Amino acid sequence: MRGKFLTIEGTEGVGKSTNIAFINDFLRSRGIDLLVTREPGGTPLAEELREILLKKRDEAFDPTAELLVIFAARSQHLQNIILPALNRGCWVLSDRFTDATYAYQGYGRGLDIKHIELLENLVQHELRPDCTFLLDIDVALGMQRARARAELDRFETQELAFFEDVRKGYLARAHADPMRYTIVDAGQTLADVQQDLSMSLEKLLTD
Ligand code: TMP
Repeated sequence: MRGKFLTIEGTEGVGKSTNIAFINDFLRSRGIDLLVTREPGGTPLAEELREILLKKRDEAFDPTAELLVIFAARSQHLQNIILPALNRGCWVLSDRFTDATYAYQGYGRGLDIKHIELLENLVQHELRPDCTFLLDIDVALGMQRARARAELDRFETQELAFFEDVRKGYLARAHADPMRYTIVDAGQTLADVQQDLSMSLEKLLTD
């Protein structure tokens, strides 16, 4: 049996890392073989592309060039890590996937959604996540948390308005496909966030 493909998404500072660890522990305690990975990245070559994407530099990164590098990394990650794992029955949890591209490059940078769809079909064929957890938070609050955590990368130094657009994009996609997405209010206490995640994971296990 093919494994389930789960993804976790959100704007900056939503608490993805803590909740990924929680999901990992939860599923492992239920006997699920889970591979946790991330985008951009997940293989040595894709991690090199991640460094290129996140590095701050003087030269402006053309948005279309950025989009192509993201899908180059994704193709490598899919072929070498994600698909082989799913095919051997392992579940995969990816810290971000193509919803991030729609949200950041589509809604944030304003690239044509049709071009993203084209690349999604080229790189992924029919593969889409079975379930996506969208951790949603007030953008200013998330940025405060991100700032307190570490030095900001190239994406994190964008204006708040950019992240407002990214958040709108995520929410629009989630509302358009409520079967696939679980929207979790990441402004709640961690205990409440994890309660919501547990309910959704229980449901996945019985599907
Ligand atoms: P991370 O810090 O959550 O690991 O993500 C790295 C950055 O990459 C984050 O700011 C969002 C950005 N990103 C995109 O812009 N498009 C994408 O498709 C992905 C996967 C990430």
